[in-house]
Amino acid sequence: MGGGAWARKNTGVSMTTATAADLKRHWQAVRDRIAAAEQAAGRPAGSVSLLAVSKTFGPEAVAAVQAAGQTAFGENYIQEAVTKIQTLSSARAELTWHCIGPVQSNKTRLVAKHFDWVQTVDRLKVAQRLNEQRPSDLPPLQVCVQVNVDGGVSKSGVTLAGADELAEAIRELPRLRLRGLMCIPDPVQGFAAQCAVFAPAQALFQRWQQQGWGVDTLSMGMSGDLEAAVASGATLVRVGSAIFGARDYSAKA
Ligand SMILES: Cc1ncc(COP(=O)(O)O)c(C=O)c1O
Repeated sequence: MGGGAWARKNTGVSMTTATAADLKRHWQAVRDRIAAAEQAAGRPAGSVSLLAVSKTFGPEAVAAVQAAGQTAFGENYIQEAVTKIQTLSSARAELTWHCIGPVQSNKTRLVAKHFDWVQTVDRLKVAQRLNEQRPSDLPPLQVCVQVNVDGGVSKSGVTLAGADELAEAIRELPRLRLRGLMCIPDPVQGFAAQCAVFAPAQALFQRWQQQGWGVDTLSMGMSGDLEAAVASGATLVRVGSAIFGARDYSAKA
């Protein structure tokens, strides 16, 4: 893994012109932002974890960010992710892979087999299939309910009103373990406005905790709004472009 730019490979993923040293610097800068946000919010150091969103970037970029100290990676596209996970199989025990993209019913078997976490469960049918298809030699799949907190009609995510019912059903499924909730609100400008969008997710998460559901994960915040997410109680932020650079979706067409 030298210092040169990663070449585009025949894997359908975009290249980054960042070197391993660049990626390490970007990653450290994001870690510093999280630490500063924790401090600003009066939260304990280390209370927010970082998920590096590697979608569209190749295994070399993941390996470089892993070498910097990152172990949890998030992927949106199932087939791309499976190829990457297999390419990096020698590091499988050290890495945790989170599915953060939409899960169609016909992809649940792949997801159940290859991922450690699925953050985007928003339908009972998908939860049931993941439960049935989780291989018996693997630990339960760690699951978050994806909640549509800002009400966009075309968006994924269960409604705030429907989240409890789905979460309760997931808690009954033995091969899934409910860890909390995630949301992907549309981007808004300004700290106060961002906090306002995150507030219903925080309230729901706190209620689930108070109900004794044993949830520990509130996944929200990305490159542009992680400070507001940390101020709003996020325990995990999902950061892509601030680490890997701008994504090139043309290879996805
Ligand atoms: C679900 C999800 N979370 C996080 C991210 C990371 O976003 P960003 O590159 O703005 O950090 C993405 C990127 O598309 C995403 O789809």
